[in-house]
Amino acid sequence: QPLNSQMEDGSNLRRVNCRAKGGSPGFKVAILGAAGGIGQPLAMLIKMNPLVSILHLYDVVNTPGVTADISHMDTGAVVRGFLGKEQLEDALTGMDLVIIPAGVPRKPGMTRDDLFNINAGIVKTLCEGIAKCSPKAIVNLISNPVNSTVPIAAEVFKKAGTFDPNRLLGVTMLDVVRANTFVAEVLGLDPRDVDVPVVGGHAGVTILPLLSQVKPPYSFTPKEIDYLTDRIQNGGTEVVEAKAGAGSATLSMAYAAVKFADACLRALRGDAGIVQCAYVASQVTELPFFSSKVRLGRGGVEEVYALGPLNEYERAGLEKAKKELAASIEKGVSFARK
Ligand code: NAI
Repeated sequence: QPLNSQMEDGSNLRRVNCRAKGGSPGFKVAILGAAGGIGQPLAMLIKMNPLVSILHLYDVVNTPGVTADISHMDTGAVVRGFLGKEQLEDALTGMDLVIIPAGVPRKPGMTRDDLFNINAGIVKTLCEGIAKCSPKAIVNLISNPVNSTVPIAAEVFKKAGTFDPNRLLGVTMLDVVRANTFVAEVLGLDPRDVDVPVVGGHAGVTILPLLSQVKPPYSFTPKEIDYLTDRIQNGGTEVVEAKAGAGSATLSMAYAAVKFADACLRALRGDAGIVQCAYVASQVTELPFFSSKVRLGRGGVEEVYALGPLNEYERAGLEKAKKELAASIEKGVSFARK
């Protein structure tokens, strides 16, 4: 029995509005890891999204409190909480979009790959639940190391016979959000008017901002390119160090996750021309997974765009990124096949 679905006297809550305002269908969204540093603000922001009619909050701890709190917001989505493994299947049944920020975050001195041993198992278990209960859902995977957890998820879905490469998306939106912010600072522009494609993956040198393709077009000096590339690649570490042991990016990540989830939901609704960067199954390079701009539609990823013209600096960065990515992908695949 999900938390918050009944009145104190045991009668069912009457509020079962499955239609979002404005006549759109109203989507069902689950957040796995909803009581965490990212999960909580993400749950709040998703509760504010008019496209969402049902919001399921799942975690292994603390969901009753988070669910009670969020459920008092006077927005349309009905919130239900689910606690612990025995409620995972109920949390996942019938979802349109599943967002996964479950798992441990970095502490100072750690790389994202240092999280592999704990998070790989968490992602595997959660994806087994998705394959069973929401095989058609779009999955937004946030848990690090994304470069390896997405291949793990793919292997779990393949084994279950439910893998649809168009529906599995690693969330690299925070890299784009940071890139837009840092480039806007250099250009003296509003970040909302800046668009920086960030390709590759989501860790260190695999984060490859394509500054030659920035909109509006701008010719950066070599010094600016070095500064921006370094800051975008190490933006996560900047936050980890500033938080000094209290975790990694949570608020900007929740913002980025909801920006990305909203793009997925608008695409599911049928809106045209929705393009975002994401780490997906890809033929853009020789690697099986790669992040680049993708066009989203009713079936998830409808088109994966090629990288476009790269300058010499970016070509060198791409080679470095691919080398590390290949190893991270292999690590994920062999974990899942074990
Ligand atoms: P956190 O530790 O604050 O929260 C994680 C939550 O996951 C906790 O509530 C925990 O109880 C829950 N959890 C643990 N095992 C679980 C399981 N088996 N099933 C469901 N929930 C489970 O961590 P935070 O800061 O929210 O980060 C979460 C993840 O997101 C980390 O792996 C972090 O590295 C990653 N991350 C990814 C980013 C990206 O750009 N893709 C950016 C920032 C963080």
